[in-house]
Amino acid sequence: MALLPILEYPDPRLHTVAAPVTVFDDALRQLVADMAETMYAAPGVGLAATQVDVHQRLIVIDTSETKDQLRVFINPQIVAASDELVVCEEGCLSVPGIFEEVRRPRWVRVRAQDADGQSFDLDAEGLLAVCVQHEMDHLEGKVFVEKLSLLKRERIKAKLRKRKKR
Ligand code: NI
Repeated sequence: MALLPILEYPDPRLHTVAAPVTVFDDALRQLVADMAETMYAAPGVGLAATQVDVHQRLIVIDTSETKDQLRVFINPQIVAASDELVVCEEGCLSVPGIFEEVRRPRWVRVRAQDADGQSFDLDAEGLLAVCVQHEMDHLEGKVFVEKLSLLKRERIKAKLRKRKKR
């Protein structure tokens, strides 16, 4: 197992669109294990492969309080979503220390594969729904701050730059 370095916004590599996973082998399962370890150590509730500079369609999530319910989504797709939207305060391991409100569908149905390539559907709501959508955005090369106004985004970039200098 290994901790993987996490890319930080505005690193341009975070804007890479990930490619589908086609091979379900030991290397993939190792990547899943390393991403899970990295997520738990951060600590965070979700991590997309994009954030560790691996541009494949793979995310790991654990929104449980006990941190023992790892969910792995490979090649995830949203096949249904509620019309109803909710506002939730989001953070991101790639945008440390920044929390902003984002509006998204309240529930989603996700179709994905597990680490063995088995397909499954999952209906998600609450924090899990938010997290799945947030992580799937990473696979499209999108970071949550891009859903905010330009002014807010510029403030966040300035704050992160200042923090890095210290
Ligand atoms: Ni994120």
